[in-house]
Amino acid sequence: MTIRPATSADLPAIALLQDAAPEASQWDPAGYLAYDCVVAQHGEALAGFVVCRRTAPGEYEILNLAVHPDARRRGVARKLLNHVMGAASQWFLEVRASNNSAICLYESVGFRQVGRREGYYGTSPEAAIVMRWDS
Ligand SMILES: CC(C)(COP(=O)(O)OP(=O)(O)OC[C@H]1O[C@@H](n2cnc3c(N)ncnc32)[C@H](O)[C@@H]1OP(=O)(O)O)[C@@H](O)C(=O)NCCC(=O)NCCS
Repeated sequence: MTIRPATSADLPAIALLQDAAPEASQWDPAGYLAYDCVVAQHGEALAGFVVCRRTAPGEYEILNLAVHPDARRRGVARKLLNHVMGAASQWFLEVRASNNSAICLYESVGFRQVGRREGYYGTSPEAAIVMRWDS
């Protein structure tokens, strides 16, 4: 498994990964290259990707994360998060309240739940859970 920065050549595969992960945010992958976008490559295929950005000095945000259904529970997401998260910073993210897999993943790497935003997703009444990680 190789963890590396995404390139424009990865965008079609990232789009397919995102299609296979409806719980992930569904944005235009072309926009991801404006942020820090990192992929997990297994052989010729992409197993997962993460997108993040710096929001303030020392403060970062996970924007999106997905692992292909065939590659889950093998540590791919944990490797992606470990790769992008530096040692000395704060990280934030929002996750759907119903997304138990992702909440368990984030808690497993040290994020904790610090807030709840009702109606965050607009198209559904579902709340977002705000999670934070401190070095
Ligand atoms: C959430 C997601 C990224 C996890 O990816 P993954 O590569 O399977 O996760 P990992 O194998 O690295 O799991 C690491 C830990 O997270 C937790 N975890 C991951 N998936 C879990 C699940 N379905 N149920 C419970 N815990 C889970 C476990 O603690 C796991 O460690 P373990 O396997 O040793 O028990 C993946 O399920 C996915 O792509 N989901 C759809 C998209 C999505 O929800 N993205 C998040 C948007 S905020």
